[in-house]
Amino acid sequence: MHKAWWQGKVAYQIYPRSFKDSNGDGIGDLRGTIEKLPYIASLGVEILYLNPIFASPGADNGYDISDYRKINPQVGTLADLDELIARAKERGISIILDMVLSYTSCEHELFKRALLGRKAPERDFYYFVRGSNGRPPDNLRSFFGGSVWERVPGEEDLYYLHYFTKEQPELNWYNERLRERMSDLINWWLDRGIAGFRLDAIMNVVKDRTFPGLPPDELGDGSCAAARMNAKLAAQAPSLYQELKKHSYGPRGAFTVAEAFGLNDNLLDQFIGDEGCFSTVFDFTARETIEKNRPGYYAYPKGTLKIYRDGNFHMQQLTSPLGLVAPILENHDEPRAVSFYLEEGQQNAQGARALGTVFMFLRGIPFIYQGQELGLTNTHFDSIEEIDDVQSKNEYRNATAHGFTKEQALAILNVHSRDHARTPLPWDDSPHAGFTTGRPWLKLHQDALSLNVAAQEQDPGSVLNYYRALVALRKRGAWQECFCSGDFIPGSTADDHVMHYLRKGAGKCAEIVGNFSTKERVFELSGEGRILLCSIPEARVEGRRLTLGATGAAVVEILPGRSS
Ligand code: GLC
Ligand code: CA
Repeated sequence: MHKAWWQGKVAYQIYPRSFKDSNGDGIGDLRGTIEKLPYIASLGVEILYLNPIFASPGADNGYDISDYRKINPQVGTLADLDELIARAKERGISIILDMVLSYTSCEHELFKRALLGRKAPERDFYYFVRGSNGRPPDNLRSFFGGSVWERVPGEEDLYYLHYFTKEQPELNWYNERLRERMSDLINWWLDRGIAGFRLDAIMNVVKDRTFPGLPPDELGDGSCAAARMNAKLAAQAPSLYQELKKHSYGPRGAFTVAEAFGLNDNLLDQFIGDEGCFSTVFDFTARETIEKNRPGYYAYPKGTLKIYRDGNFHMQQLTSPLGLVAPILENHDEPRAVSFYLEEGQQNAQGARALGTVFMFLRGIPFIYQGQELGLTNTHFDSIEEIDDVQSKNEYRNATAHGFTKEQALAILNVHSRDHARTPLPWDDSPHAGFTTGRPWLKLHQDALSLNVAAQEQDPGSVLNYYRALVALRKRGAWQECFCSGDFIPGSTADDHVMHYLRKGAGKCAEIVGNFSTKERVFELSGEGRILLCSIPEARVEGRRLTLGATGAAVVEILPGRSS
């Protein structure tokens, strides 16, 4: 594989609205992010991914973009972004933006002009389709519930297509002029010094333009999830992205990471690797296992270590011969991993350190999500009024419509809501945990006054300082290459409470072992070793045996010439 500038790096994702507010309006912003750059740099991360910061009416927290060349005034200005890019660069950090190219906001100029009528040159940039007898063109269901079709005001039986909220009309990627505009847009941002992009919802661009619909799914109301149509048509996606790559980020050497749900395993070779459409794709296998064929949060199981492990092991092995994947524990669409994947007695700092260890040495480009490095758990929401997220609100309605009481529906959100990841980052023990001097846009974590950055800075044994050690080890000398692109060899999966794997490359070999059971365990290693890092003091290696306490993880170097 060709070695690109981003290989071997660790990335950090921030949700700017919830990272740091600089002006007391309760909303995190770019100046707050600039202020906290020393903190970001102190983690050792070298790629910084920002969730959408473009102009947006806010129907889906910035994922409904009305102008892709303007910054949302709530978040800052272009000058602020230029400054962030420059200051980050001084610290060896590259900025990547969230590029939402499968839909726009309904407030976008193009959509407004498309609405002007059938003759409008922009009409074909979106999907306007006739229904019949007062019924929409097909039975597909939006990712947020309800039909994917919305009536065009003032026109009988005419609909436009949207896969998320009705404020997010889908773009027609089969229109060549539209694709040219997208390449131009990406090049415009690359010219400004952006190092790359997270490409949003990439599998949604494919469409069957006869809109035949699909047989009803498990929800039981005659509709079928739009995601199923994506899966059916997935093979069309690579050629569309190859073209985009060729005209924009490819020749510029930019880093791209795709949000690819419903990616068929047999297409992966077209998405990653030197010739692939993207530098890498996020590994969402665990999330897909949770959601598989289930009609909503109310039917999702809680995550388990086994689900996380099996998903990652599958993707690690599948991608190893092809290119690099981007492992995650959390992001802005996920609950907090410590609460979600671990069992009750482990949803604490010790659990966070152990989980961080088995995550950090997976093959590829790992992304840490803000607050993960503090071991944040889920936030307790006391009422539906405390929830902001549009998807969570829909899922609450979905649950009550399926017979759950309001209390039960809220309990479901307390496990699955995306807002767990979006509560403001706690910085210190001042009011609102130092996130803002005003009123925060979303409630703070219940333990924000103790579980914050300042408190953890002081404590050498904190999750924060442990994460710094994880990142440092990942980048240390030849280990960097070993961990990024070396071999991945799964260990035994017989015990659901163990995650054990081996990494080998660049003349190095390590075993990563996580014991998530409630008892001390002894593990047989592939050779004599020594501990490089461990999450609990109760860890020792004697010859080829590793003894590891409960809820603990260790990284063990297998000494050269002593493996078998
Ligand atoms: C992407 C984003 C998610 C958003 C969705 C629709 O999946 O990650 O946060 O809700 O797009 O806009
Ligand atoms: Ca602000």
